Amino acid sequence: MKVLLTGAKGQLGRCFCDRLPTGWSVLATDSDSLDITDLEKVQSVVAEYQPDVIVNAAAYTAVDKAESEQDVAMLINEIGPKNLALAANACGARLVHISTDYVFDGEATAPYVEMAATNPLGVYGKTKLNGELAVSEIQPAALIIRTAWVFSEYGNNFVKTMLRLAQGRESLGIVADQRGCPTYAGDIAAALLVLLQKEAPGGIYHFCGNSEVTWSEFAEVIFASALQQKVLTQVPAVNGITTEQYPTPAKRPKYSVLNCTKIRNEGVELSPWKERVSFVVTRCQV
Ligand SMILES: NC(=O)c1ccc[n+]([C@@H]2O[C@H](COP(=O)([O-])OP(=O)(O)OC[C@H]3O[C@@H](n4cnc5c(N)ncnc54)[C@H](OP(=O)(O)O)[C@@H]3O)[C@@H](O)[C@H]2O)c1
Repeated sequence: MKVLLTGAKGQLGRCFCDRLPTGWSVLATDSDSLDITDLEKVQSVVAEYQPDVIVNAAAYTAVDKAESEQDVAMLINEIGPKNLALAANACGARLVHISTDYVFDGEATAPYVEMAATNPLGVYGKTKLNGELAVSEIQPAALIIRTAWVFSEYGNNFVKTMLRLAQGRESLGIVADQRGCPTYAGDIAAALLVLLQKEAPGGIYHFCGNSEVTWSEFAEVIFASALQQKVLTQVPAVNGITTEQYPTPAKRPKYSVLNCTKIRNEGVELSPWKERVSFVVTRCQV
């Protein structure tokens, strides 16, 4: 299987490269070697490499910054996936695209199924939703995986931020009224490989961690793990605060738990995120 990977230097991109099955080959591209907003470049790279699959791990992921950089977020999250879908169709490749729990408004009280009504609260969510719509219109057989609260040993994420903030602090105020499911990027990579290997039907799939928490509970798990693994000798007390007490440019859903029954029915195990936190914590330089 020949895979063209975009965003290869991001969390998911790097985890995907680490897990490439034997016998598969990958052309791993980053924003320098393949800017997905450049249709001509996308078309020429795809035409030359002739991939069987295009995995789009590239995205504009700065949720707050997107509020003031709407045009850039739109180019990367809407036009980029559209370009990839067009190029994929031209060479008969299947597109795998990643989306987010932030397409929902968080007003639900039970986990969101794939068909639930979307209503993004911010620019990031809106541009990601438009990317999904473009991909599914151009290539109905594409795999679109919505995931949430992504962390890994790579890049920037909540686990690394907590380990950094922990130093020298007696207490930390962390938001305790937003609920979601942390997801290890390596498990997303593994999940999409399962879907590809079994040629799962096209469409949207939800994939996330196997239990829900608030951000403050997530922080507690990270600190407990850091103490246990002796990565930190002291951790701050976590004080739960409200979203109103921690204002951010982008509004976030209060509840963005995803129902993952559909992907589980394809044989994919959900991300055992607490175990993965332990793994990641031991690999972080504090
Ligand atoms: N992170 C989360 O918490 C989260 C939650 C839900 C869903 N997701 C989704 O999961 C997917 C993977 O996220 P991630 O956390 O792995 O993202 P990430 O670490 O931020 O990586 C994104 C990558 O995309 C690249 N990129 C940006 N603009 C590009 C362009 N025009 N052309 C090519 N590459 C470009 C970036 O490269 P540069 O750094 O060089 O710009 C970066 O390496 C994304 O679709 C994201 O929306 C993420």
